[in-house]
Amino acid sequence: MATLTINGRSVTLEVADDMPLLWAIRDYVGLNGTKFGCGAGLCGACTVHVDGEAARSCVTPVSAVDGKHVTTIEGLSSAGDHPVQLAWIAEDAPQCGYCQSGQIMQAAALLADNPDPTDEEIDAAMKGNLCRCGTYNQIRAAIRHAARTRTAGTDGEEVSA
Ligand code: FES
Ligand code: FES
Repeated sequence: MATLTINGRSVTLEVADDMPLLWAIRDYVGLNGTKFGCGAGLCGACTVHVDGEAARSCVTPVSAVDGKHVTTIEGLSSAGDHPVQLAWIAEDAPQCGYCQSGQIMQAAALLADNPDPTDEEIDAAMKGNLCRCGTYNQIRAAIRHAARTRTAGTDGEEVSA
């Protein structure tokens, strides 16, 4: 059992301590935006934020997030207008879309820590998020776009998650 905050809401999960957070989020909380890819911490499809840091929810047991704040793609912005989401739209980043919630969560964590990353820093932060459709160039462009709009102060009120 664990009690945590998910997207600003207190949730008590009466599940086995070793249940992956990804399962709990999808099957018990009903938030399906976080995706299952490899189930082994290798692809990034399941990325969420735990206390503001990107985390692979498929290899994070529920017991590890007791008392913590988890943000999923649904909670990044109540209106879907987080600067990273707006940049993703502007740069037309997704193809099939399956990996993209994880990509967005990883990128949002990067920019919260480092608002103006270099290309090398973007590549280093994003290298664990795989995309079978090969949208890496669009993702890089979208992160640069988000960094520009955040720096220019045109991103609305939310700058971290
Ligand atoms: S599903 Fe979690 S890293 Fe691939
Ligand atoms: S957009 Fe298809 S897997 Fe990334």
